[in-house]
Amino acid sequence: MAKLKALIIFGTRPEAIKMAPLINEIEKNSDSLSSIVCVTAQHRHILDQVLDLFNIKPDFDLDIMKDNQNLWSLTSDVLLKTKEVIEKVKPDIVLVHGDTTTSMAAALSAFYAKIPVAHVEAGLRTFDKYYPFPEEINRVFVDSLCSFHFAPTDKACENLLKAQIPKEHIYKTGNTVIDALLYTVKNHDQSINGLNLNPDLKTILLTSHRRENFGEPIRNICKAVVELVNKNNDIQFVYPVHPNPNVQEPVNELLANKERIHLIKPLEYAQFCSLMKKSYLILTDSGGVQEEAPSLGKPVLVLRDTTERPEAVEFGTVKLVGTNQEKIVSTVQFLLNNKKEYDKMAEASNPYGDGLASKRIVQILKSIN
Ligand code: UD1
Ligand code: UDP
Repeated sequence: MAKLKALIIFGTRPEAIKMAPLINEIEKNSDSLSSIVCVTAQHRHILDQVLDLFNIKPDFDLDIMKDNQNLWSLTSDVLLKTKEVIEKVKPDIVLVHGDTTTSMAAALSAFYAKIPVAHVEAGLRTFDKYYPFPEEINRVFVDSLCSFHFAPTDKACENLLKAQIPKEHIYKTGNTVIDALLYTVKNHDQSINGLNLNPDLKTILLTSHRRENFGEPIRNICKAVVELVNKNNDIQFVYPVHPNPNVQEPVNELLANKERIHLIKPLEYAQFCSLMKKSYLILTDSGGVQEEAPSLGKPVLVLRDTTERPEAVEFGTVKLVGTNQEKIVSTVQFLLNNKKEYDKMAEASNPYGDGLASKRIVQILKSIN
């Protein structure tokens, strides 16, 4: 029997982290599957960090990232350049991940070529088209055109059923981010000494990069950070700042050179996992971090009003705080002052996967060959 030829297309840091375990698993099954990896390089530096860690050498690198890129040019670059790759490779199936513009435009490209698309991390929804923007519509769009939906949780499966996706196209697999996390924590645990944090202080880890938080919301987050360090001399913040200029500018303006606020470059994934493990509390608007932190037993305050990842909120490890300065300050203060409430949130939970999602997806791919 001929091997199933899978073309895997991704372009940003989180897609790379979540597709890496799947690429490695497909390679282990090279008797029946073959993988061709195409990176759009919607991200450049922070994508390459992940490719190096997982030892992935792309077959195609479209190198599309531009400084402060916009959604229109990004979409058209991905659409046109993946067309050429799809025509050359002639895959049996195209795999995309999640909700980025790379995923949306690559899925459309495959659909135009009448190649079946499989969506890894299918079915996530906030049901609000502007939050997160443009990710909510990206994933609705991908789910509407793809043939295989690899949904991480029961809730994601329910969302797909509600969207009239046929039951036989939906597979509950768990999220491959947990495969990546468990592998990395086990095999690449790293010292964080190089970050020069004070080991006697409680470390609060912060990340923020959402388009809908650009402008006033991100400024409010920064002001809350300043207020919190001024009120508590036993805490320090560490913030690996996303390279997007819309993040860099306000963050550097409001937080640079302040005592007990460490602005650092984006960390290589293994080091970031070690930092999550050693943090007391995490403040973030990241999707991936919301999924990883509960497995590590780290309380998360989400700097957004809605989430497409409600499972850990229901369990209690994650709380939505939005971007209001007062609300952020009062919630962090409450957790710093109430050990019992903190301990309740710090209970480890694993709603997003068991580390076997890639294996399940590979079994499904083998069964369709
Ligand atoms: C993108 C995704 C978002 C995802 C996020 C993960 C879209 C529309 N957005 O947002 O869903 O949550 O990635 O991080 O798909 N840059 C660099 N070096 C890099 C990466 C980015 O300099 O390695 C800068 C560039 O100026 C680039 C800008 O960041 O133009 C924005 O990158 P872009 O991918 O458009 O948006 P993100 O905010 O990263
Ligand atoms: N991450 C990383 N280095 C950092 C910050 C985040 O490796 O400095 C990882 C994090 O563990 C998670 C992923 O990047 O797996 C999340 O990426 P991001 O927040 O950029 O995107 P999102 O998940 O919101 O789409």
